[in-house]
Amino acid sequence: MSFSTDRPASWQACIACGNETVDHDPATRCRQCGGLLEVRHRAPQLTRAELLEKFTERRGGPRGPGATSGVWRFRELVMPGAELLVSHPEGNTPLLHRTALDEYTGVAHLDLKHEGFNPTGSFKDRGMTVGVTQAVRIGARAVVCASTGNTAASLAAYAAQARLAALVLLPAGAVAAGKLGQALAYGARAFQVRGNFDDCLRLVEESSTRLGLYLLNSVNPYRIEGQKTIIFELLQQLGWDPPEWIVVPAGNLGNLAAFGKALRELREYGMIGRAPRLVGVQAAGAAPFAMGFADGFQQRHHVDPHTVASAIRIGNPASWDRAVAAIRETDGLVITVTDDEILDAKAAVDRSGIGCEPASAAAVAGVRQLAQAGRIRHDDRVVAVLTGHLLKDPGTPAHPAEEIEPTVSALERAIATASRD
Ligand code: F0G
Repeated sequence: MSFSTDRPASWQACIACGNETVDHDPATRCRQCGGLLEVRHRAPQLTRAELLEKFTERRGGPRGPGATSGVWRFRELVMPGAELLVSHPEGNTPLLHRTALDEYTGVAHLDLKHEGFNPTGSFKDRGMTVGVTQAVRIGARAVVCASTGNTAASLAAYAAQARLAALVLLPAGAVAAGKLGQALAYGARAFQVRGNFDDCLRLVEESSTRLGLYLLNSVNPYRIEGQKTIIFELLQQLGWDPPEWIVVPAGNLGNLAAFGKALRELREYGMIGRAPRLVGVQAAGAAPFAMGFADGFQQRHHVDPHTVASAIRIGNPASWDRAVAAIRETDGLVITVTDDEILDAKAAVDRSGIGCEPASAAAVAGVRQLAQAGRIRHDDRVVAVLTGHLLKDPGTPAHPAEEIEPTVSALERAIATASRD
């Protein structure tokens, strides 16, 4: 079908065949061809100046999720028809700068958009507030996702707020303890699947409709709408003056897809004149999208994924086609970093006092690699997105804590001994 006249506030369209469907259709793939869907909105009936005024007014506003959420502040571009919001609130994450990390990466000014400051500690909350709001709008009773951990924690929290049953499918033995603990604490039922993330995602895609569960992985286009606000918010923080580069870790490719769509819409609405170049950074052992980039995206690649960064241990990313568009439209790059580079970058981010989980450090490792290769020039303005909080996955500490007797002399002796790092 297609809407010719009287377009509603929002609808969904298949990015492969163009088939359109109403905004409350619960199917997360095109019913005609199985392609990925995207949400489309009627262009806001406001000028650029009026939109900017609204976004500025609401920022840090006094009451209600519409004002205090860094997602719903942009609701004209996210879900204009939303009424009952399931909002924590979320977003409003800081843009951080540390000279130590300029020095580490070799760029003159690196800003870090730290999405670990979201309520459950990762960027997933931005997509989940919209996804669970949509679940309530369409009358879903139970929600489900496959996850390497962060999506599960976020889904569990928002489902609890909306009083929906939540089920999460996780690769057995491969999820950081903090993330699994969060999902269980918020009340989700967790299933440890004997397989990897890709097996979990295949299983939920095959079973959700039959089991009456609303699927909230980022194949669901409403998740993408929420994740666009990482871009909206960081550009607002930069006075709508885009940097040259935005660098993000890439796993299932939901973020790259969302960033591409956000930049496309901002250009369409005249909010920015030029798009930054997007860079997706994959772990070398889980890099099917980087393989695709290397061959001009002639074919889809699958790998058996291995990396220390469990959040991005993904071999068959779902948002492939959307992310290809994002890279092509922004003259973007997709690169790989080794596990050693990831751990080295994580140590640098942690020692700067900021901290992040391993997958997030891939973005900083990517900036360093591109700066060393001269692809990012010293004076280019760069934003790297840190996707998750240090406490999600503290892993092996850089050096051990030292145990002492509770006496002044023991403390004095211990301090006098050379520190171990
Ligand atoms: N960084 C972190 C901390 C993540 O948790 C994820 C994905 C990514 C980066 C990659 O983002 O998939 O949009 O390319 N985590 C998902 C999960 C798979 O289940 O929590 P992407």
